[in-house]
Amino acid sequence: MAPFLDRVGVPTAAICVLSSLASLGHAGAIADADSEQLSARDSAALDYYVPPYYPAPYGGWVADWQDSYAKAKALVDSMTLAEKTNITAGTGIYMGCAGNTGSALRVGFPQLCLNDSPAGVRHADNVTAFPDGITVGATFDKSLMYQRGVAIGKENRGKGVNVWLGPVVGPIGRKPKGGRNWEGFGADPVLQAVGARETIKGVQEQGVIATIKHFIGNEQEMYRMYNPFQYAYSSNIDDRTMHELYAWPFAESIRAGVGSVMMAYNAVNNTACTQHPYLINNLLKDEMGFQGFTQTDWLAHMSGVASAIAGLDMDMPGDTQIPLFGNSYWMYELTRSALNGSVPMDRLNDAATRIVAAWYQMGQDQGYPATNFDTNSGAAVNPLYPAAWPNSPSGVTNEFVQVQADHDVIARQISQDAITMLKNDGNILPLSPSQHLKVFGTDAQKNSAGPNACTDRNCNTGTLGQGWGSGTVDYPYLDDPITAITAEASNVTFYNTDSFPSVGQVAASDVAIVFITSDAGENTYTVEGNHGDRDASGLYAWHNGDTLVQSAASKFSNVVVVIHTVGPLVLENWIDLPSVKAVLVAHLPGQEAGTSLTNVLFGHASPCGHLPYTITKAESDMPSSVTTLINSEFLNQPQDPYTEGLYIDYRWVNKNNTKPRYAFGHGLSYTNFTYTAASINKVTQLSSYPPTRPAKSGILNFSQAIPSATQAVAPSGFNSIPRYIYSWLSQSDANNAVSDGKNGKYAYPPGYSTVQKPGPRSGGDQGGNPALWDVAYTLTVTVQNTGDLFAGKASAQAYLEFPDNVAYDTPIIQLRDFEKTEELAPGASTTVTLTLTRKDLSVWDVVAQDWTVPAVDGGYKVWIGEASDNLSIVCHTDTLKCETGVTGPV
Ligand SMILES: *[C@@H]1O[C@H](CO)[C@@H](O)[C@H](O)[C@H]1NC(C)=O
Ligand SMILES: *[C@@H]1O[C@H](CO)[C@@H](O)[C@H](O)[C@H]1NC(C)=O
Ligand SMILES: *[C@@H]1O[C@H](CO)[C@@H](O)[C@H](O)[C@H]1NC(C)=O
Ligand SMILES: *[C@@H]1O[C@H](CO)[C@@H](O)[C@H](O)[C@H]1NC(C)=O
Ligand SMILES: *[C@@H]1O[C@H](CO)[C@@H](O)[C@H](O)[C@H]1NC(C)=O
Ligand SMILES: *[C@@H]1O[C@H](CO)[C@@H](O)[C@H](O)[C@H]1NC(C)=O
Ligand SMILES: *[C@@H]1O[C@H](CO)[C@@H](O)[C@H](O)[C@H]1NC(C)=O
Ligand SMILES: *[C@@H]1O[C@H](CO)[C@@H](O)[C@H](O)[C@H]1NC(C)=O
Ligand SMILES: *[C@@H]1O[C@H](CO)[C@@H](O)[C@H](O)[C@H]1NC(C)=O
Repeated sequence: MAPFLDRVGVPTAAICVLSSLASLGHAGAIADADSEQLSARDSAALDYYVPPYYPAPYGGWVADWQDSYAKAKALVDSMTLAEKTNITAGTGIYMGCAGNTGSALRVGFPQLCLNDSPAGVRHADNVTAFPDGITVGATFDKSLMYQRGVAIGKENRGKGVNVWLGPVVGPIGRKPKGGRNWEGFGADPVLQAVGARETIKGVQEQGVIATIKHFIGNEQEMYRMYNPFQYAYSSNIDDRTMHELYAWPFAESIRAGVGSVMMAYNAVNNTACTQHPYLINNLLKDEMGFQGFTQTDWLAHMSGVASAIAGLDMDMPGDTQIPLFGNSYWMYELTRSALNGSVPMDRLNDAATRIVAAWYQMGQDQGYPATNFDTNSGAAVNPLYPAAWPNSPSGVTNEFVQVQADHDVIARQISQDAITMLKNDGNILPLSPSQHLKVFGTDAQKNSAGPNACTDRNCNTGTLGQGWGSGTVDYPYLDDPITAITAEASNVTFYNTDSFPSVGQVAASDVAIVFITSDAGENTYTVEGNHGDRDASGLYAWHNGDTLVQSAASKFSNVVVVIHTVGPLVLENWIDLPSVKAVLVAHLPGQEAGTSLTNVLFGHASPCGHLPYTITKAESDMPSSVTTLINSEFLNQPQDPYTEGLYIDYRWVNKNNTKPRYAFGHGLSYTNFTYTAASINKVTQLSSYPPTRPAKSGILNFSQAIPSATQAVAPSGFNSIPRYIYSWLSQSDANNAVSDGKNGKYAYPPGYSTVQKPGPRSGGDQGGNPALWDVAYTLTVTVQNTGDLFAGKASAQAYLEFPDNVAYDTPIIQLRDFEKTEELAPGASTTVTLTLTRKDLSVWDVVAQDWTVPAVDGGYKVWIGEASDNLSIVCHTDTLKCETGVTGPV
């Protein structure tokens, strides 16, 4: 979510003028924004188009959801028209939570509170600031991903959040400089998919509806949003890349039963995601069998009828793109569209039922806590509706409910297990507490003005524990590195500066620990010239951090670099300097930045994090289609063609035969592990295409009948709150809508239909054809800690190589599964099991529009090891043999 000033370079004054103009329209109907027709297209855009797909598939045909749908349909059938349109949209921005739907209290359906952040509960007190997604991804630990989800779910439930706006898998991390990659789990579809799946399970088991976002192609921050002067960029994605890369983690999330999907700000193939019939009707709701509800990103709603028939179910936070005037494309406008027949009633019934079904599915009808915190204020008594200022009634909105419990324990464990040791020459790490330590860099100590001094962490001052924007949580405290270091070591000198100071005489045994950062966030804020994306800093450390390391390295012969970063950096200015002995990437640790780090620095635990992205030697080692950020094209829609296709991150450098500085999955330990005794076992005999999908069952029969106009009219004497968005029409507007429907017809798009389809062959259940998740092969491998000093956890990563000579160009290797071991004592070993599904062995066949196994009994190779460039085992699917001690393919 984001406030509405979300771009660079548009004068605020102009927005104000437009706002006033927009407000004039409130009395009458607001025309659908037909903005997709206005702009000239450059020719590159013509190759991309949106295949029509209508109507929006009903929900309710998946077995897991049928009880919830039966209850939801009964409840929605008992609602009036104005109640149905009330629950499908927000009542306006700054009316409580990030968004609040209208209610249907007469029949017992409450307002729903929707709230950020993917790392906890945004704008709340007494909560945990969990490590960010990228940090969780770096653990490569499914159990930690799940446990964080459980804790986040408990905290959101405890605060009365009905719909949690996380996790994030879009952006996937296509652009290394992209602003919000850190909210997701890493630059790989399987790492993202597993991170999201485990998070969703943990959260929804607590009764909270999770929201997978942002669907889709939201890979950079600048120009992501439509505004009156600028079209959002269009991510132009071909069908195969869409399925095999970007949609993959969404499919896994839907398979995990996610209750909501948030539609991204940007366009795909030149149509805005919030009104994209192919993305919503086809991909999400039919092919992937999504049973929950779709919602817009904040203020991304652009049309009334068009978005409804494209399959959108909820408009958030309810306003048009220019908020705070009580204007909406839905609410009263959706009531009008239903009465005039342009939005078919079965579409509205389906949308409302999807929302109510998700509420039942998570058990929110049984004793769910009411919202008890205020995202707009830390005081106890506040305006109930801040946007109605100065006419809002007041009341107690903050009850300071303590929801942290012992979640610091899991937060700290994740921050610790994410720490990724890139280098450790001469085993300089771990340090001894008696060594003489000189600590450099303002990142070592929290912001002296307080860790929350900058709204939404929109500055990079002091310890960098989170990126900035809506993905943040207010710190309850920040355990910073310098506090933890001085608590443990006896001789520490801290230079709280990013310019190398005068340090006097240096002893050969002194150790310099240099803290550097790189930050990014949401386009809502510009921080040190970076508009969300790292457009100003590029992939270099902020605050001249690279120079600080170089200076320290020229003075000290033992330098340890600690990096807090949102994503990859180019380290070439100093990584090979002989005195730079060790490098730890601590990612974004949230509130637990200190002890998690010292536990590793001083050897209480071995580092066991692995890179969730590739660190290249130069930015240009990636293709220009991902290193170039989209620039504004005034009054013309910026085009972002995904010409690199499947080849992002490690897939690209491998194909290009470029040695990265540190490969995807790399991460050292204080001990060594061996991988031996591998075996591969065939579980399911595959076929070229999956078995025929199950038919939709128990399809609901939604009423098409247009209700009476009286159902649209407010009870007399109703006192409205200023700027609050309601679903009612006046009696005369309601009557006019009915006659509009008799006299005119909406100009439906080509391909429009109201006849429900059986669904594509690639569908059949949540996520797609259920046979895609058939286990094709299992692999086991014995992992032993062969060191004799340190315990440690090993990460077993399985990468798939397609057989030679298949008719599809495929990346050399692709991560398909991973497992983290428990902590293994010196000498101890364990057996790890890895799994390959039918989908893992498939490619998307754009002609058949289905997943296909291109070589059914072919010689796939499954490479196993501890990093994408350190794969010492290969197992063969044709011979069912494994070899150890081999050299990997890249
Ligand atoms: C985008 O256009 C391509 C044709 O270039 C088409 O195959 C694909 O399905 C379209 N995707 C979406 C989401 O509209
Ligand atoms: C819509 O929701 C608001 C907020 O809960 C409520 O005041 C209003 O009465 C609701 N309208 C209907 C038709 O129930
Ligand atoms: C019905 O109302 C909607 C919302 O105001 C409008 O976009 C649409 O054009 C109307 N349809 C007709 C037939 O008047
Ligand atoms: C946390 O809750 C307590 C009451 O349990 C309250 O006194 C305190 O002010 C809250 N903390 C914050 C940061 O608001
Ligand atoms: C701390 O370390 C410095 C060298 O960095 C040394 O000169 C000093 O004597 C040490 N202090 C103590 C108390 O050991
Ligand atoms: C690698 O990428 C560079 C620059 O993008 C290109 O010039 C070169 O041909 C590529 N090499 C291979 C082997 O693909
Ligand atoms: C790990 O193995 C390498 C190479 O076999 C060896 O040089 C190193 O000392 C070992 N490290 C530990 C901690 O056992
Ligand atoms: C659907 O409901 C309508 C009444 O709303 C009824 O006439 C029709 O027979 C029902 N169709 C099915 C397939 O149950
Ligand atoms: C590669 O993995 C082996 C264990 O499989 C490990 O001993 C070695 O240190 C690793 N090498 C690198 C460069 O990570």
